[in-house]
Amino acid sequence: MPDYIEFDPALVEKRQVYRLLVGSVVPRPIGWASTLGRNGVPNLAPFSFFTVVCVIPPMISLTIARNPDGSEKHTLKNVRETGEFCFNVVTHPVWRQMVDSANAFPADDSEFAETGLTPIPSVKIKPPRVKEVPIHFECRLHQVIELGPNRHPLVIGEVVYMHVDPDCMAGQYIDMRKLDPIGRLNGFLYATLGEILERKFDDGMPR
Ligand SMILES: Cc1cc2nc3c(=O)[nH]c(=O)nc-3n(C[C@H](O)[C@H](O)[C@H](O)COP(=O)(O)O)c2cc1C
Repeated sequence: MPDYIEFDPALVEKRQVYRLLVGSVVPRPIGWASTLGRNGVPNLAPFSFFTVVCVIPPMISLTIARNPDGSEKHTLKNVRETGEFCFNVVTHPVWRQMVDSANAFPADDSEFAETGLTPIPSVKIKPPRVKEVPIHFECRLHQVIELGPNRHPLVIGEVVYMHVDPDCMAGQYIDMRKLDPIGRLNGFLYATLGEILERKFDDGMPR
């Protein structure tokens, strides 16, 4: 057995705990959350602390850290105010725009305009979708759970409408090659899918 380096999160510097978390939970899917501010300006920001949390009804979660001064990011403010957001799957062709959209823009500037992306209308919610990506989930806020002493917000949204570009489908499934998603690693690193592996269960049934 190797001599593992051991860390007690209660004793280690906060930044180091973050480095261990984001270097270990990899690759993380990246979702662009589009929201509408009270000023009517569409906001877009990428999130990688993103996952599925329920199927019936469909729900996804995203964790929106506070800004270093403790204030809330525009996405969280908008979600709290309007109760709506759209999750847009980030894919390889738009990965650079995704990174650029995380720069700090004033609330009156839309990341859509700043990064040359096209907002298109949603069906059941007001925030627009990102035309340049193949999957959009329209979500209504279910709950914000505030975790730990810094009240780190975990946002849970119910998916009320789903859009998928037919070019990404193979029968009833989403075709991973056609989807070509991008994942976040640590630091400034991102990953594409690379080799895709397949191995069936003994009875051939899905789990
Ligand atoms: C790939 C990527 C993933 C990110 N994931 C998260 C995340 O999970 N949670 C978070 O709070 N910020 C995350 N960020 C940072 C936000 O996108 C960034 O703070 C953004 O400017 C917030 O915008 P807003 O103030 O318009 O909401 C991520 C940035 C990038 C580039």
